[in-house]
Amino acid sequence: MPPRKIIIDTDPGQDDAIAILLALGSPDDITLLGITAVAGNVPLSLTEKNARIVCELAGRTDMKVFAGCDAPLKRKLVTAEHVHGKTGLDGPVMDDPTMPLQDQHGVDFLIETLRAEPSGSVTLCPIGPLTNIAAAFQKAPDVVERVQEIVLMGGAYFQVGNITPAAEFNIYVDPEAAKIVFGAGVPLVVMPLDVTHKALATKSRVDAFRNMNTKVGDMVSAWTSFFERFDKEKYGSAGAPLHDPCTIAYLIQPDLFKGRHINVEIETTSDLTLGMTVADWWRVTDRPANATFMNDLDADGFFALLTERLARL
Ligand code: BDR
Ligand code: CA
Repeated sequence: MPPRKIIIDTDPGQDDAIAILLALGSPDDITLLGITAVAGNVPLSLTEKNARIVCELAGRTDMKVFAGCDAPLKRKLVTAEHVHGKTGLDGPVMDDPTMPLQDQHGVDFLIETLRAEPSGSVTLCPIGPLTNIAAAFQKAPDVVERVQEIVLMGGAYFQVGNITPAAEFNIYVDPEAAKIVFGAGVPLVVMPLDVTHKALATKSRVDAFRNMNTKVGDMVSAWTSFFERFDKEKYGSAGAPLHDPCTIAYLIQPDLFKGRHINVEIETTSDLTLGMTVADWWRVTDRPANATFMNDLDADGFFALLTERLARL
């Protein structure tokens, strides 16, 4: 099979950074057409900069990085420095990037690319709030049917919420955007907290990154060591959950994941449950299925794949 063409839409974030590296380390499986940054974990000025830092780390100064939306469609931005640190990529010391940011707006890049590539040949991988994707669908409704698939990180059912008792961060930050994306009719694969909380970077897995003895291995081990403190304290978990790389791993090795094709709706009105992904896991409604909602992964297989691909960089 030829490599799958994708665009990563992202708010780096240590786990976003590792997702980008996994894609860049897998050129036989994935052709990364570009990276669109969105405001999320930290403001846009930092997420676009962090995306460029990651590309430079992988030696890919040719990669096109675009800045997209700097705020959710209708709400004030909520950020997550309490998880990712002030820069969004806290942990190791990093140099500022020298590669340029593209002039074009990220939303226009999404639209232009979907129009230029054959219909049904481009997959979108959003791993931050869904603002850029929804903005592209609103601005150019003709591109919606041209998307091959959307494979995103967001939401939760059994784990319920991480930013509020009822909502996961990416969906909570821009629930109106999430509603547009989940209602667009595009084939959708969702990596919720139910699966990403099983992708834990335990000590032996972090040691495997460090033992690569490469710059990428050192950075990834430093990022996961920084990022783990939050989840260890909150959930008592054995390491940092690598949420976002689950999307890229799915594109490379889908059999690592298990889930159900079900209906998922987004709550946009209730103050109490804003941003909740109301997943009909038990199929108790007649609402049509609109997403493959994952809830399990082969964690050892996932880390074997990740370690092997990062070692190529
Ligand atoms: C999601 O929120 C961000 O903090 C992570 O990068 C991930 O995309 C997890 O809720
Ligand atoms: Ca993210």
